[in-house]
Amino acid sequence: MKIPQHVAIILDGNGRWAKKRGMPRNYGHVQGSKNVERICEDAYKMGIKYLTVYAFSTENWNRPKDEVDALMKLLRNYMKTCLKTAEKNRMRVRVIGDISRLDEDIRKRILELEKASEHNDGLNFQIAINYGSRDEMIRAMRAMAKDVEAGTLAPEAISEKIFESYLDTHDIPDPDLLIRTSGELRLSNYLLWQLAYTEFYFTDVPWPDFTKEELTKAIEQYNSRDRRFGGVKEE
Ligand code: IPE
Ligand code: IPE
Ligand code: MG
Repeated sequence: MKIPQHVAIILDGNGRWAKKRGMPRNYGHVQGSKNVERICEDAYKMGIKYLTVYAFSTENWNRPKDEVDALMKLLRNYMKTCLKTAEKNRMRVRVIGDISRLDEDIRKRILELEKASEHNDGLNFQIAINYGSRDEMIRAMRAMAKDVEAGTLAPEAISEKIFESYLDTHDIPDPDLLIRTSGELRLSNYLLWQLAYTEFYFTDVPWPDFTKEELTKAIEQYNSRDRRFGGVKEE
């Protein structure tokens, strides 16, 4: 089986999963975060080199304050656990998104985690926090405009490659496979530029129930696809 090099996941459905069990939405987030840990291990064992998960979007600030607070608390704890897992599994962790809006202690933990894991040669694990693709592109454009103003970048030199180098995902190959759990068929502002030629896989399974077997199903389906990049298939 051909294993995709980079898998991106929109982990959705934590709230509905919990509600169905008569539990508060936050319980779903706790179980969802545990599942992230499991899937990281499974993905790496399967041979996936890059995994990028959507943990908190720029639009998720619009949720009720107690849910946002609970998610931030979870992220805070998750960063600690992740530091240990990264060491154990030799995982390299990077956060994409605008972390400037996060509390200082979370920002500190993120930088600590990125620094501590930067030379690890295991799974490349990206966590999208306060991430929105439109916001990422606007931040990239602002940085480019500053460099043009400073005279270090010529407008004529701007290419797809140069633009990509300003994105949060610089140095990370584009995803081969995108998975969204829990039945929604949309991108919700995730990696709009990077997903230009990615294969999409949607499943009704909610994120806390998304196991290694479900990941295998997604990869099997990916294998049955006829991937093209605008050309024609060689017979
Ligand atoms: C995904 O689960 C996790 C986050 C967006 C933080 P949801 O919280 O979106 O769960 P549903 O979609 O409401 O069930
Ligand atoms: C997308 O899920 C964001 C994350 C998974 C972090 P949402 O549940 O927030 O997306 P919408 O609101 O259904 O589009
Ligand atoms: Mg959702």
